[in-house]
Amino acid sequence: PRLAAPRDILGARRNSAGLNLSNEHDLKTIKTAFARIKPVNGNGLPVRNPADHEDVVGYVTYAEKGEVEAAFAAAAKGGPAWAALGAAKRGEILRRAGDIMEERLPDLLGLIIREAGKSTHNAIAEVREAIDFLRYYADEARDDAAPLGTVVCISPWNFPLAIFTGQVSAALAAGNAVVCKPAEETPLIATEGVRILHEAGVPADVLRLVIGDGPVGAALVGHKDTHGVVFTGSVEVAQLIQKQLADKLLPDGRPVPLIAETGGQNAMIVDSSALTEQVVADVLTSAFDSAGQRCSALRILCLQEDVADHTLTMVKGGLDELALANPQFLATDIGPVITAEARDRINGHIEAMKAKGHKVTQLDLPAEAGKGTFVAPTIIELNSVSELAGEVFGPVLHVVRFKRSAMDKLIGEINALGYGLTFGLHTRIDETIREVTERIEVGNVYINRNIIGAVVGVQPFGGHGLSGTGPKAGGPLYMRRMVLDAPVLKGG
Ligand code: SER
Repeated sequence: PRLAAPRDILGARRNSAGLNLSNEHDLKTIKTAFARIKPVNGNGLPVRNPADHEDVVGYVTYAEKGEVEAAFAAAAKGGPAWAALGAAKRGEILRRAGDIMEERLPDLLGLIIREAGKSTHNAIAEVREAIDFLRYYADEARDDAAPLGTVVCISPWNFPLAIFTGQVSAALAAGNAVVCKPAEETPLIATEGVRILHEAGVPADVLRLVIGDGPVGAALVGHKDTHGVVFTGSVEVAQLIQKQLADKLLPDGRPVPLIAETGGQNAMIVDSSALTEQVVADVLTSAFDSAGQRCSALRILCLQEDVADHTLTMVKGGLDELALANPQFLATDIGPVITAEARDRINGHIEAMKAKGHKVTQLDLPAEAGKGTFVAPTIIELNSVSELAGEVFGPVLHVVRFKRSAMDKLIGEINALGYGLTFGLHTRIDETIREVTERIEVGNVYINRNIIGAVVGVQPFGGHGLSGTGPKAGGPLYMRRMVLDAPVLKGG
């Protein structure tokens, strides 16, 4: 009875229900699963909990050349039969994997929380999104075009199961064999994901996991038998991949396709008609949920001058109420950032802004913060959007004030940052909604709500410019990039 039926009575796909932390049964299920966690022993490189470095979550070894070769050889061997199986059968297998993930959700949570430092509530959303991707791409699979062949999937640590599963399931549903490399920070949850896909019926040859860091990723991208690459991560790495692919061609002479989803320099505009309480909740969620480690996260809050002081005072008051702690506590709102390197980079930015004289407001770090890699959630006040350089991937919110008469200039400045991922607008004036949405150049616009947590199949997610190549994940065009000569979709 716990499992949500994947379809309602009219046959429409349902998104995964997840667990409800305010429900005693669900809470007990989670606590029981957490109690099952045992210390591990092993060889190789330790994978440490970012909230507590003494907590070793598991051990891994990075793939050597031979393992990479074996993965491509297996994919070449297994690929044709997988393609010939047909979209319906492949879809069945992927849906089964979704059902297994739903059954094992409590155990998957424990691993995500410890390996990626996610809050329980974020970890639940993470597994739900992975399940939604499996079901969505299973439904979207078609038999109308040949797959590319072997697709390399390189996924990030910030959604170590959801984005990993999204990339892999789309490539598989389209009939490709997959060689996947999760981020080196989060190999364990991806290993579990692959185990579940194999258990559901994806042949071992068709889906191969390769563990490693950047050089291992480069070996996969540069392999002669790579027929497509799906990457989510930094702009810099996306550019390196693009360079590597520039010299490669598919057997028929066409370029090797790349789908890259990268960062964002995401803004939210709040005008004086907005409902302040709603703005505060949505700003805090957008900027600080997941410790700001989402490509969709809010980086620049633009407040209309008339309401700026009042709104900012309330945002700071709300920030004070958030719990910064180890995510092993259910009440934690903001957990650690992923690595010491990330922490130092983010703190370096904050210090540089202080040195330039910007007003900075920060939460205090809790006493136990030194056990892991925590960054104090921070608000930095700027004079203009253009003072912001690159993306700061952490719990740091920048605030600028604007005059209503300069709204058009402000939108121009946001567009000029060169990214184009998410954007939020809080207003109660219809004309402003029209004016702003017509001009803003981003993939996902959110009106009078937060700007994170796009729902698979409902809010296809992705951007352009420095934010990615398109097409959007969890949308109808994504898988069309993973086949040869995809017929154009009506309305696509
Ligand atoms: N899809 C996530 C979100 O919308 C980001 O990767 O927040």
